[in-house]
Amino acid sequence: MNTELTWLGHGSWQIKTAGKTILLDPFFAASPTASVKPDEVNADYILVSHGHFDHVADVPAIAERTGATVLAIYEIAEWFEAKQGVKNTLGMNLGGGVALPFGRVQLVPALHSSRLPDGSNGGNPGGFVLSLADGNVYFACDTALFSDMQLIGRRGIDVAVLPIGDLFTMGPDDALEAVKMIRPRRVVPDHYNTWAPIQQDAQRWAERVRTETTAEPVVIAPGGSLRLG
Ligand code: NI
Ligand code: MN
Repeated sequence: MNTELTWLGHGSWQIKTAGKTILLDPFFAASPTASVKPDEVNADYILVSHGHFDHVADVPAIAERTGATVLAIYEIAEWFEAKQGVKNTLGMNLGGGVALPFGRVQLVPALHSSRLPDGSNGGNPGGFVLSLADGNVYFACDTALFSDMQLIGRRGIDVAVLPIGDLFTMGPDDALEAVKMIRPRRVVPDHYNTWAPIQQDAQRWAERVRTETTAEPVVIAPGGSLRLG
């Protein structure tokens, strides 16, 4: 079965690959655009990019119900265990990767902030590169544009998922620059249209990607999917 990436709204993704289900930054209960509820998802692994509420809020409940292993930077992994009762965590740090049954997961830098909802130190924010049997996927997660995205692109990215919402992350102009540096085969926008302040015209952005870069833009609605391979 080919890898299936499903956008669950905002910065939330479900990745089905090699018989495993992985969630990234699940934010459902309080998200106006989530396509699922926290008790409707399955997970073997949950990846968490940083400590903001719109990325961690639903993690403890989903982890408890599913028994999923939570991967995050060390500070956040510790916080989930010590303060949120999450049993299975795998603490990482920037640049580090780990081989899992479905492929390799690397935590890569992001330019953002990362305080946890209770004021705890959430370490540094990150993004993820997933090296899967049928391709490499880069989730930039909440980030500003930074030139080291070029280095992430050098390994060959099949799908890049980039925020375009502006205000809290890159907006459309910087996300377009990011595409030019990463040079992915396909690019998917996220972290927009959740709330009025991050409203964006994704189709217009996709048109610019098509004319100004070599990447194929893929715009999907929450609940929609794309396949690798
Ligand atoms: Ni954030
Ligand atoms: Mn966010």
